Parts: sequence; structure tokens; C-alpha cells
Amino acid sequence: MYRVLYRKYRPRFFADVIGQPQVTDTLKNEIRADRLAHAYLFTGSRGTGKTTCSKILSKAVNCLNPQNGDPCGECAVCRGIDDGTVTDVVEIDAASNNGVDDIRVLREEANFTPAEAKYRVYIIDEVHMLSISAFNALLKTLEEPPAHVIFILATTEVHKLPATITSRCQRFDFHRISPEDIAKRLEYVCQQENVSVEHDAALLIAGIADGAMRDALSLLDQCMGQADVITEDSVRKTAGLADKTHLFEITDAILSKDAAKAVEIADELHKQSKDMARLCEELVGHFRAVMLIKTVRNPRESIVMSESDFIRTEKQAQSLNLPLVIKIMDTLQSAKERMLQGVNRRIEMEMTMVKLCGIRAEGFSDPGLEKRLSSLEKLVAGMKANPPVVSNTPVKAVPPPIKKPSIDMAELRKNAVKFDGWQNVVEHLRQYSRSLGTSFEGSTAYISGKYVLVDSKNDMCFELLRKPEHRTEVRDAIQHITGKIYSLGKYSYPDEQKPDDPLMQLVSDFKAAGIPVENKEKNSN
Ligand SMILES: Nc1ncnc2c1ncn2[C@@H]1O[C@H](COP(=O)(O)OP(=O)(O)OP(=O)(O)O)[C@@H](O)[C@H]1O
Ligand SMILES: [Mg+2]
Ligand SMILES: [Zn+2]
Repeated sequence: MYRVLYRKYRPRFFADVIGQPQVTDTLKNEIRADRLAHAYLFTGSRGTGKTTCSKILSKAVNCLNPQNGDPCGECAVCRGIDDGTVTDVVEIDAASNNGVDDIRVLREEANFTPAEAKYRVYIIDEVHMLSISAFNALLKTLEEPPAHVIFILATTEVHKLPATITSRCQRFDFHRISPEDIAKRLEYVCQQENVSVEHDAALLIAGIADGAMRDALSLLDQCMGQADVITEDSVRKTAGLADKTHLFEITDAILSKDAAKAVEIADELHKQSKDMARLCEELVGHFRAVMLIKTVRNPRESIVMSESDFIRTEKQAQSLNLPLVIKIMDTLQSAKERMLQGVNRRIEMEMTMVKLCGIRAEGFSDPGLEKRLSSLEKLVAGMKANPPVVSNTPVKAVPPPIKKPSIDMAELRKNAVKFDGWQNVVEHLRQYSRSLGTSFEGSTAYISGKYVLVDSKNDMCFELLRKPEHRTEVRDAIQHITGKIYSLGKYSYPDEQKPDDPLMQLVSDFKAAGIPVENKEKNSN
């Protein structure tokens, strides 16, 4: 019988759990030192090892012959837990047993001493699904746990748990697993399965899985069903990722201002029944990647594409400046809108190709865009007269009058201390909203008085923070990590260097208005 890979390769020892040393090392130490807690809370994003570690822990605490904090996997107890004959380890799926009665039964049972093992272990998976009354019943047991009982609560949605529960547990946060770690594990699995896999293909799978090992193994499973040798190309096909060759070719044509070539490629795609509006969208996606490469500190993490595609995109990004990229994206967006309004898509695409090949960063003539640029300039001019320095809304797009308490940034800067828990805040945010969490990647933060000041090269986070609901989410996340309520602000450096090139000036004006552009190359000289 075929067993899906992610079940077959569920780690049986802490040593095999990848990418979670903050969990596995700590647990092993506790087991070695016999310093066990009565309740553990495993939280973090999906497919990263929570259930797996619950099972290993349940064996490790009961194993007759523990190996340096790991279960032996061989003794009667380990084997009994594995095949379910040792009844002292109970797994409860809170998604289907979420009522108060389920927990009452558990509480009564928990009073009995274990039959075969040292500890009765209750693994409550998806614990956030319990009803309020079930939580209350559970709480009573957590308050006075019998000495021989250990609870392991696992959930992706820790914010749904009452604080009374979380505060009684030792909490472990499982992180998204890095693409390199995932790729390594995939290569190990392929080796065991006698399948050959290219490193770049493994990395592409890892990128698509976005940190979840289970998703990575599932995709690998599908790829194995499709081809004997797993290449980037086969992954792309299996995952339904489009081949990007035409996007690179069109970009090359734009770079060399070869309108004939660009139109020819578009026509060829049209002949192959490619939808031209879809092509516009793909091109926007492609230039978005270019934009991220030019603005974000760790662009690789936010861009899902194969390694070779990424390298190629990076190369193209070097030949494009940001204002140009933004104009190209803008042109493509408007073309797509017109296509959706019913103009002839092929003609529109051809016109767009010609336009794109003629675009210069300066003097681009698109009346709509120009109007927006000039209103933006006015707006920026207004803001300069009355710059908001630190506020709940770090970047204001609304022109004055803005009444702000005058806050002395220099003073705030002087008192600022590095906010060490910031990465936890960002990780926590990602659980609510991936885009919000991602926009803070690579950022750091400082605490000064009642402010948390965010320092980020990626202005997208400030853009998002303009929305009240996002500010609330970030403040809540900070409160969750620190227990305190802070106001949010943007960390600004003394006398931020103003580039003198008029175009770069425009970019920095965009930036001041909260539009996510920043030119890394320019800043680094
Ligand atoms: N850290 C890891 N190291 C190795 N394999 C892992 C890891 N995390 C997950 N896996 C693989 O993914 C499968 C699913 O993992 P697991 O059930 O532990 O995830 P989970 O965190 O409980 O996910 P969910 O939140 O969806 O319940 C495992 O059987 C294993 O094959
Ligand atoms: Mg699980
Ligand atoms: Zn054992």
C-alpha cells in the first residue's frame, strides 16, 4: 500500500525534526534534566512539526530507555505508543471533540494513575476549537494537574486561546522552515525513495510550500507521480506555475527598446491562445518581483520562483531603475483595465508593447499618469511643510491640515533601545495576515517611551500601517508579545540624505507619500 510521503517521513525523534531547534533542544534538555512542565503549548504555522513533536514528546517522557532526551523508539512503551496499544497517551482532535463533555471525560480519566507508562499524556490538537465551556473545564485541570499528567496543546491559532489557558502552559513557537532546510529534507527523502531531484527543483518546491514541510512533501509526492527525475520544470508543471520564459523575453525587448521584438512575442503568444489580459497580469507580477528586488532587504523570501528564474530576474532588475519599473507597471495595469472594459485585447497589447519599449524614466507621456504624479507632487509639497514625524499613522497620504502633537524625533531616537522581541511580533503577525507579516520582513524596531518605532527599508509596511485595522493588528501583536500597549511610529534617521538627482528626488517624494519605492543602489553610494 502506498503511504503518502508526509506520513511516511514523519520524524520519530527530535533529532530528525528540522528547523525548530528552539523547540527540540529545549525539550531535550528538560527531559534530560527531568524538569517537565505539566502543560505545553505548541503553536506556529501549519505543517511545521507541532503534532510530530507532540508525539515524540509523549514517547520521550515515557520511554524506558531514553537516549539523551529522545525516545529510543524500540522499547515496549515506545512501540506501544506508536501502535496505539499503550492507552496512557491519548490524542484528542479538538476539531471534532470540542464540547465540555469531552473534556469532563478527560478530567475524570486523568485522575487515574497511568496503566503502563510513567505519565498520562493528553495531546489536544487544534485546541483553539474547544468551546468556551470546554476551555473552562480544561482550565480547572490545568490549575491543579495531577502529578502524573502532561498536557500538550497544539494549535495554529494561539490568539484564539483564552489567556487563562496560555498563561498556564510552557509555550513553544514553531517557525516557518527555511527553504534551504526544506530542500535538504526533500533531498534526503528523494534519496531514500531512489528518486533523483535537482537542488533547484527542491528549492522551488520549498518556495512554493512557504515554510510548511507538509506542503513541501505533498508537492514532492505529486511531482514523483509525474516524472522520474524531478527538475525545476517538472515542479513548475506539477504546481501549475507558468513557464516564465516569455516574461523574460518581453522584458529583454523592453530593455533593448526593441518594439518589433516585443510585439512579435506578444503576437506569438496570442496565436497560442494566450489571453492578453492574463499576460498583462503576469507581466505586472514579473515587474513586481523586480520592484521587490530593488526595495526589500530579503526579496528572495517574498518571491516564489525557481532559483534560476530568480537569478535571471535579479539580472534584469540591475538594468532597470525604480521609477521606470513603476511606470511600466502602471502602463500594464491601465492596459489591463482597458482590456477588461472591452477594447480589442490584441491591439491593446501591441500598443502597450510599443509604449513600453519607448518608455524612459523621464518625459513619459501618459496624461493620466502625469496628472497623478503632479497631484502627488503637490501632496508631497504640502507634507513637507508639515511633516508628520511620529504618529499612529507613520506616513500620511492625506494633505494638511494635519494636527499632530509635536514629537521630538531626536529625543525619541536618543532614548530608543532595540526591541528584541520584534521578530516574535512579526512572526505572530504572519499568523493573522501573511501580507502584513511579510511587509515587515527584514525590519527592526526600537522602543522609546510609549512608542515602538519601526525601521524598515521596505516602505510597504508603512503603507499598510496607514489602515487603522492593520495598526490595531500590529499593536495587538506587540501587546501579545510584550504585555504592553505602545503607539506606533516610524524610526527616522537624522537628516535623511536627500538624493540630488531630480528623479531620485521624485522617488524619495513617492516614499515620503507612502508609496513603496526606494532605490537600494542609489542609497548605497
Ligand atoms: N520540522 C519538521 N521536520 C521534519 N518534518 C516535518 C517537520 N514539520 C513537519 N514535517 C512533516 O510534515 C508532516 C506534518 O507535520 P505536523 O503534523 O507535525 O505539522 P503540524 O505543525 O502539526 O501542522 P498543522 O498545524 O497543520 O496541524 C510530518 O508528518 C512530517 O512529514
Ligand atoms: Mg498538527
Ligand atoms: Zn523507548
